[in-house]
Amino acid sequence: MLEDTSFAIHPGKDQTSKAVVYRDIGNLIAEDFSTTIFKFTCESGNVAIQFYTNSIVRITMNPQTDPKLNQSKSVIVKPEKVNVEASSKGEIITLATSQLQLKIKRAPFRVDIFDKLGKELVSETERGMAYRENGEVVAFKKMHDYDHFYGFGEKSGHLDKRDEKFEMWNSDVYAPHNPETNALYESIPYFMTLRNGRAHGVFFDNTFRSNFDMASSENYYTFSAEGGQLDYYVMAGPEPKSVLEQYTYLTGRIPLPSKWSLGYHQSRYSYESEVEVRELAQNFIDKDIPVDVIHLDIHYMNGYRVFTFDKERFPNPEKLISDLRKMGIRVVPIVDPGVKKDPEYAIYQEGVNEDLFCKYIEGETYFGEVWPGISAFPDFTEEKVRKWWGEKHAFYTKIGVEGIWNDMNEPAVFNESKTMDLEVMHRNDGKPTTHRELHNVYGLLMGKATYEGMKEQLDGKRPFLLTRAGYAGVQRYASVWTGDNRSFWEHLQMSLPMVMNLGLSGVAFTGPDVGGFAHDTNAELLTRWTQVGAFTPFFRNHSAIGFRYQEPWQFGEKYEAIMKRYIQMRYEWMPQLYSLFYEASQKGLPVMRPLLMEYPDDEKTYNLNDQFMLGDNVIFAPILQPAITDRAVYLPEGNWVEFSTGEVFEGEKTYLIHAELEDLPIFVKQGTALMQGEWVSNNQKTPQNVSMNVYAGIIGEKYQFTFYDDDGETFAYEEGNYLKLKIEVISSKDKVEVNVVQKQGDFIPEYKEITINGIGLSDGQKLLVNGQQTNYIPVI
Ligand code: GLC
Repeated sequence: MLEDTSFAIHPGKDQTSKAVVYRDIGNLIAEDFSTTIFKFTCESGNVAIQFYTNSIVRITMNPQTDPKLNQSKSVIVKPEKVNVEASSKGEIITLATSQLQLKIKRAPFRVDIFDKLGKELVSETERGMAYRENGEVVAFKKMHDYDHFYGFGEKSGHLDKRDEKFEMWNSDVYAPHNPETNALYESIPYFMTLRNGRAHGVFFDNTFRSNFDMASSENYYTFSAEGGQLDYYVMAGPEPKSVLEQYTYLTGRIPLPSKWSLGYHQSRYSYESEVEVRELAQNFIDKDIPVDVIHLDIHYMNGYRVFTFDKERFPNPEKLISDLRKMGIRVVPIVDPGVKKDPEYAIYQEGVNEDLFCKYIEGETYFGEVWPGISAFPDFTEEKVRKWWGEKHAFYTKIGVEGIWNDMNEPAVFNESKTMDLEVMHRNDGKPTTHRELHNVYGLLMGKATYEGMKEQLDGKRPFLLTRAGYAGVQRYASVWTGDNRSFWEHLQMSLPMVMNLGLSGVAFTGPDVGGFAHDTNAELLTRWTQVGAFTPFFRNHSAIGFRYQEPWQFGEKYEAIMKRYIQMRYEWMPQLYSLFYEASQKGLPVMRPLLMEYPDDEKTYNLNDQFMLGDNVIFAPILQPAITDRAVYLPEGNWVEFSTGEVFEGEKTYLIHAELEDLPIFVKQGTALMQGEWVSNNQKTPQNVSMNVYAGIIGEKYQFTFYDDDGETFAYEEGNYLKLKIEVISSKDKVEVNVVQKQGDFIPEYKEITINGIGLSDGQKLLVNGQQTNYIPVI
């Protein structure tokens, strides 16, 4: 309790102990290159090196035994057949693929990794791989003067993570979320280094509590974990995009989300009754404010028992859900892992009778307190339990639910440690393992159970899952919101780098609670936040019990009109957004990106926190402070057209841009194109008209992009029921050409053609579509 007083820095308190001794891996004693796994026996540890592709190498060091290579919860691929040339000259062993070169020194054992041009990626100096007697493992890696670091999953603070330290330990943090809060709900022990315009990635696949220290030295950085192996992958890049493709090749990509899940979500802890939910929905309809989802927080349950409804508050959930569905609105209920200890409650009975809850090695069930009171926790590390939990979701799917919100799945427990006893022994599919080791994957595995169960029951429809906790690979199952933020301008500011770094960590479908969860929001903050939210991948307004309601109409007509406009814009931009989500599902690239992703040679983008891009051609520069109507906007190379005014700005300059409360500065790159749909109404969300704005470009420029569409809610696209157009835009002196270079799929959309709007064409420039002087592309 004294930790937030000066007592925290009492000189008598243990700072870093001088007695900490790392044992270096020592010299190489023997090597074995007889298989595709290159094995090295060293004085104080054993190393295995495997190439997953030409660009991805895995290094595993086990201080005690042979490296264990088959225990990852997040890597979903096996090594490909890679052509590796091994050679040895004096002190140095070289292993080379077409993209990577490893130079391995024998004494002491050091592994330096270079790209195909011979540029250093990840290397070691006087210190390399090491461990401590207490089981800790650590890697020391050389830091370069110009290194910038990104990723690390869900972290507070700025975009560039150089000079920061992070802990990976899934934690329920109601407060504070400030720049030094370094463990939050998600642990993604992965980062990307940007060095002189070139990028590479490191994924440290260790589920124990781990630490990344990019702050203590200018010469090296470290990553370490409380136990387990030093098991890490290096991805060669060299562009930020290829690093992310490589990382998500290993850990998976987001499933293509349903369109409705990309719409506007309204939530509150809690809408407490059916009557309240109906009124809420009707308000959206009456006001013509778009909404796709209403979330039900914990009050819908009977005494917070999962898989139940409170029959007084919600007497007829099935009717409620089907009535809302007719209004174009879906219901997403919250499901937490804690199952109330109640011998008269069926889920608890089943869990006990079928032996599905987390237990100690001695056989007693672990109990902890959460919303329902004393609760037991399903052991999601076991296949049988995941299946059971998945099947239980029939309770929701049979009344029309298509999406689930998983919360408190760190797991959060109301006690000093904030979580489950670390000594709990998870069954882990036949390999019993302590909670200390598997804590960080509890949420991931709950997500797996839920997503897979829902998918099974939804019979061809895409499930939506929202989760708070996760580990590397969480993107395969769930979208992630950034937890309990507050209605502070600082939290609006922080949400941008946070969402961008999550995107750089493979989690493309993310967003914060718009308006702020705790604390009272206010009209201006909510309005500015809604403008940003309209363009973040996940768009949900959520607020906490005891604080002001923050639906878009709570602050009067003036603000309501602005928020309504931006929520509608979200729907107008849906064709563009959906194409970007398709790209995320194919390549792992984020929908919302920092500018450095597209302009890695431009240093001005390296720590640009208050601007973001959607895809590769649109920059957003929202106002993130109260009472401010002018802000600096940096535009990189190229010419940029302000979306609402059409004004053209030359790149590689900073401008002071004016933006009244109703304005969000958006800049589209000249020479590119933007797909636009339309807002029709809540029960008619599919646009009848889709258009393409073509921004005439600099002479000689060529731009290519993919427009993707399908029914937006089923898996029929897997059988070819989609529309995919590869489109190029070529600007020259007398014409702007739009060509469909490839058309794939047999989906027939409601719109028959795509209307082309030429924007900024000069007098002599004609618009040519597929070589003709028309202004549309037929799609059927
Ligand atoms: C946690 C969640 C929050 C939710 C609340 C009640 O604080 O982070 O979003 O509203 O629990 O379920």
